[in-house]
Amino acid sequence: MSEKRKIGMWLYKNSGGEKIAQEITKKLKERDIETINDINLRDATAKNGNIIHQKSKTKVNKLDLFFSYNAGEQTQYQTYLYQALNRMIPMINSYEAFALTEDKFHTSFVLRNAGVQTADYQLCHRDDTEQLKKIIKKWDKMVYKPTDGWGGVGLTKIESEDNLNMLMPFLNQMDLRYFYVERFVKYDNTDFRVDIVDDEFIGCYGRKAGKNDWKTNITSGGSIFLREPNDQIINIAKKAAKACGTDIAGVDIIYDQEREEYVVLEVNGIPAFATPEQEKMGLNFNDKKIDLIVDLIDRKTKK
Ligand SMILES: Nc1ncnc2c1ncn2[C@@H]1O[C@H](COP(=O)(O)OP(=O)(O)O)[C@@H](O)[C@H]1O
Ligand SMILES: [Mg+2]
Repeated sequence: MSEKRKIGMWLYKNSGGEKIAQEITKKLKERDIETINDINLRDATAKNGNIIHQKSKTKVNKLDLFFSYNAGEQTQYQTYLYQALNRMIPMINSYEAFALTEDKFHTSFVLRNAGVQTADYQLCHRDDTEQLKKIIKKWDKMVYKPTDGWGGVGLTKIESEDNLNMLMPFLNQMDLRYFYVERFVKYDNTDFRVDIVDDEFIGCYGRKAGKNDWKTNITSGGSIFLREPNDQIINIAKKAAKACGTDIAGVDIIYDQEREEYVVLEVNGIPAFATPEQEKMGLNFNDKKIDLIVDLIDRKTKK
């Protein structure tokens, strides 16, 4: 008889995460898979051939799989261990996919090469301000983005060449290595967040920017509403998730009113489950999402 399968998990606790973790653990148990939860790599030490989580006395690299699902608390130390761990055991998402989706330029680069429409973008060296001036002339309006940001933080809309000249001293002060800018897409200030697990459509909701904002992030004053996607949107989301190699993805899509097409703004590798409040609103994709994640873990740990 083969030994019982055992996986490690690190799932966020706020906004209903605790209950989700219990549900996943229960469903895995029904398949004879044991789950060790709360393996925060922050509390782990690497010693010679092992990565040891002290509290649970677990050799994490000996587990059959590690499911990492905590966006808020990821530190450099944790991602460093994430990368090492993934050399030894399967992870969801894979380190490669995780690292890719953490970076907006790399994501757009990969998506474009896979034939997925994104906002037009350019990346240039920090000293290449001439290129930035050329870009603003061509695009009229653009968005400066930190490539590793989240929650709309640090995004700056640049609306004219004067505007750019005014901002340059500030940008130069920030000691950046490069500039990543996107063409500002004219859209109705709403987006689609499409959840995909294992190539399957899980659910969708919309977000609307706050009254005087162009950013749909909740942290920027945006709000969530019920929204059905069409087939085209679902297919774009699936294609984007596949191109990024993400087992789990939340794909953000907006509609470009000028070019009359959908564009992917970003792929989130750790999209939140619906919160208890959102479930009350009618967002009911959590069960399907949990089931598909459990299927996925089962399949990836088959011996
Ligand atoms: N190129 C763009 N044109 C117009 N609006 C944009 C563009 N890029 C981002 N936005 C708006 O800003 C928000 C945040 O951008 P995003 O790239 O998703 O960064 P973050 O990781 O901070 O959420 C988006 O949800 C969207 O509302
Ligand atoms: Mg976003």
